[in-house]
Amino acid sequence: MPKITFLPMNSVFDVPAGETVLDIAIQNDVPLQHACGGFCACTTCHLKVISGAENLSEKEDEELDRIDYADGVAENSRLGCQAKVLGDVVVEIVNLDL
Ligand code: FES
Repeated sequence: MPKITFLPMNSVFDVPAGETVLDIAIQNDVPLQHACGGFCACTTCHLKVISGAENLSEKEDEELDRIDYADGVAENSRLGCQAKVLGDVVVEIVNLDL
């Protein structure tokens, strides 16, 4: 079962493969913003992948188009509502919803 770690709170969860990072966050009360409801129409679910990028689903066209609008976008940026967890990964939340 894949393991996902959310930073900066260092919350770790064992999750079934194939769920999005956003779904995992919502189910576990991790404060990952999702203003558009997870439809790849905002960038509030912006994450930086610290390790395990190869264990996330590939970026599809919608995510590639949208992520350029995220503040501070970088090579390791992903949108939590689009990235599915397939193996162990460590992600850092950019927009903490506190
Ligand atoms: S929740 Fe809006 S793009 Fe991910």
